[in-house]
Amino acid sequence: MSSIQQDVIVVGSGLSALLTANYLSEHMNVIIFTKSSKNDNNSFLAQGGVACAIEHTDSWQLHYEDTMAAGCYHNEEDAVELLTKCGPGELQAFIQNGMQFDRDGLGEYSLGMEGAHSKRRILHAGGDQTGKELMEWLQSRLSKKVLMVEHETVIKLHVHNDHCCGVQTYNSNGERTNYFASKVILATGGAGSLYPYTSNNESITGMALSLAYQAGATLTDLEFMQFHPTMLSVDEKAVGLVSEAVRGEGAFLQNVKGLRFMENVHPMKDLAPRDVVSRAIFQELDNGEKVYLNISKVEQFQTRFPAITRLCATNGIDLSTNLIPVVPGAHFYMGGIYTNVDGETSLKGLYAVGEASCNGVHGANRLASNSLLETIVFSKTLADHLLKGSHHEFWHKTSIEKMDRDLLQQRAVPLPSKEEIQHMMMKHAGIVRHEDGLLELKNWLELYLPYFKAINQLTEILPLKEIETIHMLQLCYLITEAALQRKESRGAHFRSDFPIAKESWRQVRILHVQKDGNAMRKEKELDEFNHAARDAASFL
Ligand code: SIN
Repeated sequence: MSSIQQDVIVVGSGLSALLTANYLSEHMNVIIFTKSSKNDNNSFLAQGGVACAIEHTDSWQLHYEDTMAAGCYHNEEDAVELLTKCGPGELQAFIQNGMQFDRDGLGEYSLGMEGAHSKRRILHAGGDQTGKELMEWLQSRLSKKVLMVEHETVIKLHVHNDHCCGVQTYNSNGERTNYFASKVILATGGAGSLYPYTSNNESITGMALSLAYQAGATLTDLEFMQFHPTMLSVDEKAVGLVSEAVRGEGAFLQNVKGLRFMENVHPMKDLAPRDVVSRAIFQELDNGEKVYLNISKVEQFQTRFPAITRLCATNGIDLSTNLIPVVPGAHFYMGGIYTNVDGETSLKGLYAVGEASCNGVHGANRLASNSLLETIVFSKTLADHLLKGSHHEFWHKTSIEKMDRDLLQQRAVPLPSKEEIQHMMMKHAGIVRHEDGLLELKNWLELYLPYFKAINQLTEILPLKEIETIHMLQLCYLITEAALQRKESRGAHFRSDFPIAKESWRQVRILHVQKDGNAMRKEKELDEFNHAARDAASFL
């Protein structure tokens, strides 16, 4: 096995990865690894746009309020303030460097509307192709000093003296290589493909979260997976996103009888926060209804939404009927690797940014079109922090012990398929959860505990597909445990056996997952606890 030394290793190929790498490359030697190709990421798929208070009737304070309310006040206030205050300046810098957002006939930005926003404030590009436009703009500006390695999967984080110091990769020839660096940045996106219905690229299964956990870093808010209300539904499958911006331009939801069921669900009706709309659709589907997005009131649909028009055409949907069949799908993970706003994790040398990280900015439910803004703002704060070289110790953790080799003998149960895992997650840890289902899921996942315990050794010998499956299962296990532990309904985490939590009450919980796979819970009132301890799932 060969080994190579770099200054910085970045894992991922989306906006967070490229932005951070670009900023750092002026002063550091940066290498990027992506497990598939440079365009296989969620950033490329982003339709809606970038939420940003740039209009004179808008303000960062209003954007802040909307973000907090959508997040059910589970958000970290400092992070939200940074996001909403710094967003406009960062976007101006993009625009000055040639990024073009759509404008109207008068040359003004044509700002879109999306769910739970009190103002039109979504900048978009190419109609509904904002992510693609941003990525192509950035790819064309990627510094020649950044080395990007495609089709090479990170399968392990190296930890030495409580410091993350590199990665092990697996390439398409099945070769393993060790790379060492003083800084490792995880920018791998979320975990939507743990579910069968998802807007995410199929490669996005949250493997980096499981790797970080395995290396001893703290994960947090794992119970909060956002389901986007409107994925195009064809033959019982979700085949692509139908942007919330479509509802922002006047489309509405109806069932097969023509009932506009959102009318009585929430004062913001079809533009209610995503968790509310997804649950209402789920309810309709559960009652045996079909749900459609009625686009009859959207002007110039095909011009404003060219990518969705193409998606519908490819899937045989006749837009002249004005009805697009929809189903909710896993879309954005609010949970992730616990970081502060500078992207520092609890493990020295390891950083996370974008959807893979959780600095608390989105709370229990992300406000629409805040994720590209998150990426833009926090890639910069991470890069600035690393370039300043002021690496304070954020939270000291010890690395995990080596597992007993005997555990390798315990691989009695064959690993399940990806589809089986997705099915179990959707059924029991999807839009509506209940203790009974979560326990059933937990029991099923516990069959694979021997694999989790031997994961370091297994990584050395198993083929990539099986390593990936074990990490999927391990993350599912942690999500299930977190969902069981949160005994309330809040934002994207809805438990049919618990009421929706009051805004003012926040349960602070640290979930210690012990090495034998059992979990124990500690609860404290918010006031008694500092921020570093909030809602964290940590490996002791
Ligand atoms: C959408 O276009 O509806 C997705 C935008 C987002 O998730 O922020």
